[in-house]
Amino acid sequence: MIIRQLTSNDSAMLESLIYAIESGMENRLWWLPINRISRNHFLDPEWCYFLGVFDKGKLVAASCLFLNEHEFKESLKSLDDVPLPVAEIGRCMVMPAYRGNNLLLTVNKELLSVAKAIGIKTIIVTIHPDNIASKRSFLKLGAELKATTVKNSFYDRDIYTINV
Ligand SMILES: CC(C)(COP(=O)(O)OP(=O)(O)OC[C@H]1O[C@@H](n2cnc3c(N)ncnc32)[C@H](O)[C@@H]1OP(=O)(O)O)[C@@H](O)C(=O)NCCC(=O)NCCS
Repeated sequence: MIIRQLTSNDSAMLESLIYAIESGMENRLWWLPINRISRNHFLDPEWCYFLGVFDKGKLVAASCLFLNEHEFKESLKSLDDVPLPVAEIGRCMVMPAYRGNNLLLTVNKELLSVAKAIGIKTIIVTIHPDNIASKRSFLKLGAELKATTVKNSFYDRDIYTINV
C-alpha cells in the first residue's frame, strides 16, 4: 500500500471514496454533511492536506488535516487556552474491507508529522460519542477529551485536542 498526499488529479477517486463511505455509514449522525465550501477546497493545498492510502492504485482510505479556520472555528469557541496555531483532522475514511488494521491511526500519525513540520501546536478532532472505531483510533494518537457540543442542531460531538 502507498500513502501519499492527494492532488487535484485524485478528485474523482476521492469523490468515489466519500460516496462509498457515506452510503455505508453505520449511523448517519457520525458523519457531518459536507458543505459546498469545504468540498470545493478538499484538494486545495492552502486549505487542506488530504492523505490517501492506495492499494493497487485504488484509493481505500483517507484523512485530512484542515488548515483553514472555516473548518474548526466553531469547535475552537468551546475550548479554553488552546496553544495556537490550530488545525483539525477530519473526514476520516477507511473502506470497510480494509478496517480492523488501524489504518486510520497510521495515516493520522503521518498527518501529525506534517502538522508538526509546519508549526501547528494543537490538533482539534470532533467525534460522535458512539463512534468507537474513530474514538479508539484518536485516543491511541494522543487525543484528550476537552468539551462536548452539538453541531448543526443535532450532530452530537465530543471535542478532543492533541498537543502536536
Ligand atoms: C473510523 C474509521 C476511519 C476507522 O477505521 P480503522 O482505522 O480501520 O479502524 P479499526 O477498525 O482498526 O478500529 C480502531 C480500533 O477500534 C476498535 N473497534 C472498531 N470498531 C469497534 C466496535 N464496534 N466496538 C469496539 N471496538 C471497535 C478496533 O478493534 C480497533 O481497536 P484496537 O486499536 O484496540 O485495535 C472507519 O471505521 C470508518 O471509515 N468509519 C466510517 C467513517 C467515519 O465514521 N469516520 C469518522 C468520522 S469523521
